[in-house]
Amino acid sequence: MQMMQTKLRHLMSPMDFSTDELAKLLELAADIEANQEKYAHVCQGKKLATCFYEPSTRTRLSFEAAMLNLGGSVLGFSSADSSSAAKGESVSDTIRVISCYADICAMRHPKEGAPLVASEHSRIPVINAGDGGHQHPTQTLTDLYTIYSLLGRLDNLTIGLCGDLKFGRTVHSLMGAMVRYPNIRFVLISPEELRIPSYVRDNILVKNQAPYEEVERLEDVIHQLDILYMTRVQRERFFNEEDYVRMKDFYILNKEKMELARKDMIVLHPLPRVNEISVEVDDDPRAVYFLQAQKGVYIREALILTLLGLRP
Ligand code: NCD
Repeated sequence: MQMMQTKLRHLMSPMDFSTDELAKLLELAADIEANQEKYAHVCQGKKLATCFYEPSTRTRLSFEAAMLNLGGSVLGFSSADSSSAAKGESVSDTIRVISCYADICAMRHPKEGAPLVASEHSRIPVINAGDGGHQHPTQTLTDLYTIYSLLGRLDNLTIGLCGDLKFGRTVHSLMGAMVRYPNIRFVLISPEELRIPSYVRDNILVKNQAPYEEVERLEDVIHQLDILYMTRVQRERFFNEEDYVRMKDFYILNKEKMELARKDMIVLHPLPRVNEISVEVDDDPRAVYFLQAQKGVYIREALILTLLGLRP
């Protein structure tokens, strides 16, 4: 095992990594995927803390699987109720204490910016595993790795983002990361009420002069797409249930719509899926969302190694 000199570094947004650093991370993930044995003991003696104040299946378990695959161990909590947050402890106090127990921490929190506050008080790397409707950088790393492994490039792509573009943090993070590659065009497919927030439009699209269009009907644009990124309507971020009920089945990707798409388009979804992709689509070779979830483990292994400065 090699230990490289690294200064304390956190991951709050996918833009924290330059495109060169991202390229190295993707290469490392590909090497891990191809040579899993080689990495089986690199994190021996190291501990990952997963501090999840909000529900999760994939993100938490894929982080834990990643650390276990690297020979390390994991500890943590999976809901605010089972941590001292229920007693009123602040995230800054919690992370001071976690810094004494673990070498690296993945944190998910319903409040935007909570992992950033934690990172400012931490002695160990903190990874934002999703903060409210804001960012979800490790989902973006998963998305980029999936796109790169399946399409062989991150440039010259038309990417359709469909569903809840307002509250969907995976969409905000993915757009921020993708806009830095040449010739990326976004097709934003959402109902009027769930369009991207204005800070995303200004800071990502306008600032980078990225070509984009906003449409409501998926059927009208699906034929143009290299990638269709479906998202769930984020029920937990709605102010009232009635609005959610009105919006929840706005998009349902089914076989008929898939017939309008290119033969080499891929369908991504960060999951969990509710109704927005009909199960009949799962057998279509273009539906790669379960493979995407699997790839999320390798890229998280690469991230853990990079933040800890470790190599086999
Ligand atoms: C996403 C999330 O938590 O933002 N899930 C995930 O981490 N894979 C998407 C979602 O919850 O809809």
